[in-house]
Amino acid sequence: MNGGRLMAAFGRVASSAFVLLGAACVSAKPADAQGAPARALPAPAIDGSHVLHALQQRHTSRDFSPEPLEPQLLADLLWAANGVNRPATGQRTTPSAHDWRSIDVYVFDAGGVALFDPDRQALRPLLAKDLRRLTGVQGFAATAPLSLLFVADERRMGKGLDEETRLLQAAVSAGAMIQSVCSAPSEGSRSGRGRTSIAGPCTRPWASRRSRRFS
Ligand SMILES: Cc1cc2nc3c(=O)[nH]c(=O)nc-3n(C[C@H](O)[C@H](O)[C@H](O)COP(=O)(O)O)c2cc1C
Repeated sequence: MNGGRLMAAFGRVASSAFVLLGAACVSAKPADAQGAPARALPAPAIDGSHVLHALQQRHTSRDFSPEPLEPQLLADLLWAANGVNRPATGQRTTPSAHDWRSIDVYVFDAGGVALFDPDRQALRPLLAKDLRRLTGVQGFAATAPLSLLFVADERRMGKGLDEETRLLQAAVSAGAMIQSVCSAPSEGSRSGRGRTSIAGPCTRPWASRRSRRFS
């Protein structure tokens, strides 16, 4: 895997997106199982928060609009995933382990494949060929108007990490991006649909272990 790329996860977005990918390790037993009384919490203050409102609306649907995304919505989603929010340092809208910024976001739509360039808030076209079908095994992969592919470049990750740790770091970083994408388009009244899946290491940005047969 030296110098290779590690595919972390991909999300597919229709009119907007809300998919969740993340990781958490919980080893302690619930407090009440240890005999301590439960501590009541106030209800979430959803009305006062756009983000909480977006989370209240979040759900998975596998029903995709055939319409292409408006350029503004695509721009918003990509900025939410991996945009620069502090131009002085180039730092991003989503966190990354050690600030490695190792994840690149590839855009698959009917027009082809492009790479999101966060520093320029721009798309760099790579292929003028519709390869959406390669981004998933479920039928809707071929027709959903947009798939986002999150690819971790191991060359930008710390040296000396074992593969399991690299994969975990990549998956968690991609999960943060996906959650950000999920929340962004739900501002206002848009509805949306999305999906994620996780693929293993690969050497080409759009060829997972599962999809190498297409490469
Ligand atoms: C890591 C991860 C991978 C997922 N992969 C897929 C997938 O490949 N296909 C799919 O249709 N849904 C996928 N989902 C969506 C889950 O099926 C969905 O979140 C779950 O059924 C709960 O429904 P909800 O999102 O509406 O709460 C995935 C979700 C996660 C977190």
